[in-house]
Amino acid sequence: MKLDVTYHKHDVVVVGAGIAGLYAALKTSGEVDTAVISKVYPTRSHSGAAQGGCAASLGNMMEDHWEWHMYDTVRGSDYLGDQDAQALLVRDAVQVMYEMEHLGVPFDRTEEGRIAQRPFGGHFGNFGKSPMKRSCYAADRTGHAQLHALYEQCVKNEVRFYNEFYSLLLIMKGGTCLGLVAWDIIRGGLHVFHAKAVHLATGGYARCWKITSNAMANTGDGLALVMRQGLPLEDMEFVQFHPTGVWKHGMLVSEAARGEGGYLTNDKGERFMKEYAKEKMELAPRDVVSRAVQTEINEGRGIGGQDCVHIDLRHLGKEKILTRLPQVRELALKFLGRDMITDPVPIQPTAHYSMGGIPVNLDTLVLGDSQKGTVPGLYASGECACVSVHGANRLGTNSTLECAVFGRLGGLKMLDYVRQHSGHEDLPADAAEMAREEIEHLLSTAGTKSGVRSADLRTRLQETMSENMAVYRNQGDLEKQVKICQELREQCRQVAIDDGGLCANTDLIEAVELGHMLDYSYVIARCALERTECRGAHWRTDHPGRNDKEWLKHTMAWLEGDHVRLEYKPVVITRFQPEERKY
Ligand code: FUM
Repeated sequence: MKLDVTYHKHDVVVVGAGIAGLYAALKTSGEVDTAVISKVYPTRSHSGAAQGGCAASLGNMMEDHWEWHMYDTVRGSDYLGDQDAQALLVRDAVQVMYEMEHLGVPFDRTEEGRIAQRPFGGHFGNFGKSPMKRSCYAADRTGHAQLHALYEQCVKNEVRFYNEFYSLLLIMKGGTCLGLVAWDIIRGGLHVFHAKAVHLATGGYARCWKITSNAMANTGDGLALVMRQGLPLEDMEFVQFHPTGVWKHGMLVSEAARGEGGYLTNDKGERFMKEYAKEKMELAPRDVVSRAVQTEINEGRGIGGQDCVHIDLRHLGKEKILTRLPQVRELALKFLGRDMITDPVPIQPTAHYSMGGIPVNLDTLVLGDSQKGTVPGLYASGECACVSVHGANRLGTNSTLECAVFGRLGGLKMLDYVRQHSGHEDLPADAAEMAREEIEHLLSTAGTKSGVRSADLRTRLQETMSENMAVYRNQGDLEKQVKICQELREQCRQVAIDDGGLCANTDLIEAVELGHMLDYSYVIARCALERTECRGAHWRTDHPGRNDKEWLKHTMAWLEGDHVRLEYKPVVITRFQPEERKY
């Protein structure tokens, strides 16, 4: 079967309809012809699962300054974040938060009508010395509120949405990005999107772990597309485990639950955080809290000896739980049959956020090397990108902020770029060829009954990533995982599907997704094996301590066939010199 190709032309094509993608599209729409391609219906994007808040030093509840926010972000990143990017993040935060308010985000309010703010782990006042309320919130559905407001604004601005289209291939010519090829999931069919600027905002990619807070769609498609063009990824070893995932399921019990005063307790009923972070307790940065939870479990103090501890909110009272944390209560009720008002709820660390990703400069332009070389026409922002504001560990509520600040900025930068380029450069003649070959090959395996099934390989990947590369890591386990990824990549070449149809063929999509997941998982494992120190979320039990002398540097990784090539580049340090960081 030879698949037909449909052609589209826009000035800007954004891939992904979460907060970053929609903000980027909002800034170019109304000015230039803007399209958004989204694998899921836009308001089902994973930003909608962001619960607790969006950080900005508004100072509505207590004195606050962007310098304090920057200090916390730098320390939280275990000094691996680039401080020029971190300064930009926290300074723009204030303006962007008010812009979002004016776009219609229904933030909770103080009695005076200002945007209300709540405490979150790792955010403090006066350079780490006092408690802080910095996270703006809409109950525990902050991302949902932001996503919907941005979507409405994009619709108002007549952004052209291609919903449930799956991106397969970037179109490059002479090192410049000219568009991409996507598959129409619902109707079937290849589509070429010819653009002056492409912006990748494909979100997180922790779906390669078994226990994860990430949505099913978070399979790192943007990263795989970039790698397949011979471009690097940055700091892939740094993956954050959120301490309080719903036991066995992985979706979040927001850190807001601890921000509002929730306790973590072990099988003996002890608030064990006093052993790990005596002053900050449950509000220590989340890498610290995740290790504490995992240590309690590993040392046999999990509830009933199982792989969970409790989060206890009963003392907050019904009213507070119902008004501030309605969604997490509902999740615990639905998935565990536990009512937070009357019962403690079992939780465990869950793969939550990936600090690394597609390297970009401060204009969100994708970097093509470990110097400063950029890829004209190709931009990225949000969780799929690495700018790098989070370094080795992200602070809670700095993620929705990053999406908003850099999505918005990326939109403005693309606008400049598009205005300087009056016409579309011609596409290469074979623009869709590689994507066509991939899809036609998979469709040709349908009904052959031979070959392996993508679901089996995916399950093995997820189980082994959770076994070998979670909160704690060591050389033996990492070597094992590198080998498993190599084997799975080999087996993936034999994948066959059962459904040979064109319409709503999830079997086909899952087979392509598997290839993407295996590529970046392999890179994560290789980068983690190489980094022989503990920094932020990357905790090597066989290499205790942070080693600034050898490892205060970013990892850049290229996937070259079956081989991962690594280079390193310096961290940008402008204001805060690395200090010891306990929490
Ligand atoms: O716990 C949370 O609500 C998560 C927030 C975040 O990851 O920023």
